[in-house]
Amino acid sequence: MRPMTAPPEWRCQAADLPPGRTLAFAVACGGRPVQAFVVNHQGTYGAYVNRCPHTGTTLDLWPNEFLSDDGRWLICATHGAVFEPASGACVAGPCAGDALTPLPLRLEGEALVVSGLP
Ligand code: FES
Repeated sequence: MRPMTAPPEWRCQAADLPPGRTLAFAVACGGRPVQAFVVNHQGTYGAYVNRCPHTGTTLDLWPNEFLSDDGRWLICATHGAVFEPASGACVAGPCAGDALTPLPLRLEGEALVVSGLP
C-alpha cells in the first residue's frame, strides 16, 4: 500500500545495506510520496525511483526483490528489463537505452541519506 505522505529524506545505517542487498522506502518527490530503493552493488551505492521506464510500474513484484539471482543486475519483474545497479541504465529488455530515475544519495558518517526530488 502506498503511503499518503513521505519524508523529504530517507536514511539508514550503511551497515544495514551490505553488498548484494537492497532496501525499499518512500520519499517525497514534487511534494508527493514516491516509492524508491537503494542498492549496494559490490560496494557502490545507487538510489532510484522505483518506477520502470517501460510502463511505470514498480520493479519489485515481491517487496524489495530487485536483484537478479546472481546479484549482478536490477530486474523489472513485469517484463524483465535489466538495469545496471551502479548507473540505473537499462541494458536489455523493452526499455533498453532508457534509465531509472536516480535520487541524490550521500554518506553522513555511518548513515546513507537519500533525498527526494523537488
Ligand atoms: S514494466 Fe518494466 S519491463 Fe515492462
